[in-house]
Amino acid sequence: MTEHWWQAAVIYQIYPRSFQDTNADGIGDLAGIERRLDYLAGLGVDAIWISPIYPSPMADFGYDVADYCGIDPRFGTLADFDRLLGAAHARGLKVLLDLVPNHTSDRHPWFVESRASRDSPKRNWYLWRDPAPGGGPPNNWISDFAGPAWEWDEPTGQYYYHAFLREQPDLNWRNPAVRAAMYDVLRFWFDRGVDGFRIDVLWHMIKAADFPDNPPNPAYQPAMADMYRVIQQYSADQPEVHEIAAEMRAIADSYGTEGRGERVLIGEIYLPVERLMHYYGRERAGVHLPFNFQLIEAPWRARALAWLIAEYETALPAGGWPNWVLGNHDRPRIASRCGQAQARVAAMLLLTLRGTPTLYYGDELGLGDVEITATDVQDPRELREPGLGFGRDPVRTPMPWDDSPNAGFSAARPWLPLNPDWRSRNVAAMAADPQSILALHRRLLAVRRAHPALSVGDFVLLDAEVDVLAYERRRGVERLIVALNLGGRPQRLELPRWAGGYRPLLSTAADPARIADGAVALAADEGVILAAG
Ligand code: GLC
Ligand code: CA
Repeated sequence: MTEHWWQAAVIYQIYPRSFQDTNADGIGDLAGIERRLDYLAGLGVDAIWISPIYPSPMADFGYDVADYCGIDPRFGTLADFDRLLGAAHARGLKVLLDLVPNHTSDRHPWFVESRASRDSPKRNWYLWRDPAPGGGPPNNWISDFAGPAWEWDEPTGQYYYHAFLREQPDLNWRNPAVRAAMYDVLRFWFDRGVDGFRIDVLWHMIKAADFPDNPPNPAYQPAMADMYRVIQQYSADQPEVHEIAAEMRAIADSYGTEGRGERVLIGEIYLPVERLMHYYGRERAGVHLPFNFQLIEAPWRARALAWLIAEYETALPAGGWPNWVLGNHDRPRIASRCGQAQARVAAMLLLTLRGTPTLYYGDELGLGDVEITATDVQDPRELREPGLGFGRDPVRTPMPWDDSPNAGFSAARPWLPLNPDWRSRNVAAMAADPQSILALHRRLLAVRRAHPALSVGDFVLLDAEVDVLAYERRRGVERLIVALNLGGRPQRLELPRWAGGYRPLLSTAADPARIADGAVALAADEGVILAAG
């Protein structure tokens, strides 16, 4: 079997505003990431994905790009980026950028030109439509950030479409000129040596050509976000989107394949599993990894997780490589979803499932969602739909490095508040404590590296009691067992006959599970990896 680097790799997501500030403006920067590369290499991850760093008015904190081939001065310069890339590569770390091709900033020169007049050569680069016959927006599409997805442009008498903020007009991906321009962006960064991209909202990129109304959502309730009033049947996940993924893949592949400079594409796609699988593409010529967000959305129960893992593994197309995500900059953190004790079990799950894991910065510290007071709110989503729990500031707070002022993140007041427990929950303190969740992550990453069965091996679910999730990972002659107790009471797991003599290789608990009479005794909230003794 040929192994590609991105199959065994662990990806670490950095939200650059919040990782490390070096010039005392309270905002993280590229020099800060560079300063912390040794930490990342020591942690044991293989690649970093950096959320957008391009010039941006920051209406959506970088997901509104005003220049795809530059660096926002808040983060540094292109020279800083090249230095960071070189320093990462020198440590064996790959670097993935965030590509935001669905929409630009409304300040991007392309949009400024497009909106200038109806006969602008770039008019057709965006989605301009006349009002509906009786007046008003062309259809009933709703922005993912609430309200109509159409913005009226008085001077030219048309509406433009924006799936997110009005400051984020959607590009017209049916226009070959748009494709060519964005493909040049991929080449620009690949030529600099970037190892791949995470592609923002890939499933949004093509809309039904005739813009029909979306059907109303019968399950909608007022406590839900406004976007759920309708089902996004025509505004997303259209068949032609797969052409784009394949074209991007061809460009990535032209830079190298199989062990020789290979580049990787990861698509952000929130869809049911069977729809998601199409993004691997025909003959696997779509994105390498369509992000699998099942764990982010799952209830934290052993049977539910076993079911969704089985569902996902079964749905994978032949040759499709799995991937798993526990947290990101848009969703509640795992420690807040399942508590500190289970966050350790979750780490073991993430790092022992078959497929490429993505680890969100701070989750290795068990960082929780930080309460943000109304005056501190930054996220446009929270500002537009306050109090519903969709705000993303709580999961974007600064990385706490030590117990010096501002947790060593910045010499100035950080752009978002620190976690209240930063004096103890920080990298320096936890690195010194062998029982910390940070130390557990280091051990898990080391064990994973030492036992390829845990990354690229086969996966088989084992029978277990209701609160236990257990599986085998096997590669060649090596067979490992992972047993996770998702409950707060001790549990027993009968071991398969072939696992006689197996011993704990790594436990989430200080005192590892005992094995007796062909069964393993798991403490409450304990996860354990077992190997031949
Ligand atoms: C993606 C990003 C999110 C952003 C949105 C619009 O979902 O992860 O942070 O707000 O796209 O670009
Ligand atoms: Ca800074």
